[in-house]
Amino acid sequence: MPKRHEPPTSRSLRRMSHAQPIDLIQYFVNRPRHLVAVAKVRSLRSPAMRLLVLSRNAALYSTSRLVLAARARGHDVTVADPLDFQIVISRGRPAMFLGDRLLPPVDLVLPRIGASITNYGLAVVRQFDMMGVPVLNNAIAIARSRDKLRSMQLLTKKDIDVPRTVCARSPDSVGAALDFVGGTPAIVKLQQGAQGIGTMIAETPQAVTSLLETLWAMGQDIILQEYIAESKGRDYRAICVGGRVVAAMRRQAKKGEFRSNLHRGGLGVRVDLPKEYRVAAMGAVKVMGLEVAGVDMLEGREGPKILEINSSPGLEGIERTSGLDVAGAIIAHAEKFLGARKKKRKGRDAVVESEQRLTRVRHDASDRPRKLRAGS
Ligand SMILES: Nc1ncnc2c1ncn2[C@@H]1O[C@H](COP(=O)(O)OP(=O)(O)O)[C@@H](O)[C@H]1O
Ligand SMILES: [Mg+2]
Repeated sequence: MPKRHEPPTSRSLRRMSHAQPIDLIQYFVNRPRHLVAVAKVRSLRSPAMRLLVLSRNAALYSTSRLVLAARARGHDVTVADPLDFQIVISRGRPAMFLGDRLLPPVDLVLPRIGASITNYGLAVVRQFDMMGVPVLNNAIAIARSRDKLRSMQLLTKKDIDVPRTVCARSPDSVGAALDFVGGTPAIVKLQQGAQGIGTMIAETPQAVTSLLETLWAMGQDIILQEYIAESKGRDYRAICVGGRVVAAMRRQAKKGEFRSNLHRGGLGVRVDLPKEYRVAAMGAVKVMGLEVAGVDMLEGREGPKILEINSSPGLEGIERTSGLDVAGAIIAHAEKFLGARKKKRKGRDAVVESEQRLTRVRHDASDRPRKLRAGS
């Protein structure tokens, strides 16, 4: 039986990121065929890219995996902390400094923006957008995904199923809101929560009222949500890259816990994602406009219920659980994305050029009689 790929640990990766290229090649040569297929060295048709990974810490598993995957495919890759950028606003010429120097040329940016720096991180990503540098994901898509209410509004508009959810702001509305979500137990969530922090369960109407009042008094934006009891602390996490599901796992919450997040002690299990969940995940990322995403789905009685979509999904749990080279898939998509954009731009340039040529011809044509008239 072929040996299943064991993804590297954080420590071995840290060692590897300082390794010579030959070690990296060895690392990919030793992998089973299906992994090599994803990680294979880029084709000659996709030229080497200058990639920039925005991340607070180059030693994090996800960041170092992206760096390794990019280098293995022959790209030049730099990691920079979003907080080290200075955004320069000047009329018609958006620019950026990294530290005290002007930013070196970059072909594509891969942002890994943590929840703690959403605002500044998003401003940096937006500036790259303004400068015309391709970004995976772009600032609008990241901002959508960071707000659970906004995501739900977008998803339901496109008829994608989510747990019944209410957003209210008045203590008088709590009774009706609770009725709408099917009574208690009910889920109370911070709109900007992450890694399970900010998601709570309230067992009684009194608990719901006091939680809401406390959080409102603290100025927090919250949502009240139907508790999907039949999911029993389990959910699916699907990683979508370029609109396709490239890896998935089932997460099981630890005993006595309803949140399945790995950061909250949940356990990842290898799984073949059922087709309807695959379709739901792909629909959700399309609505959100995300090129790289982690989609969390509960198993409802009537099928998938989308919980949230993460724009900087962690790679450690999913690569370890699935044994798949998700970082390689992201870099492969970045190559395709950049190639498609260049082609589009070339096409647009050709149209502009031919229009300019036509205008010139028209000008020349209309100039001549005028000149003649002027001369006559
Ligand atoms: N409505 C719900 N019903 C049942 N379990 C839920 C519900 N909402 C969240 N959970 C559990 O809590 C976890 C965290 O919720 P989620 O909305 O994904 O927030 P976070 O951004 O903190 O991950 C989910 O992975 C799921 O296990
Ligand atoms: Mg989640």
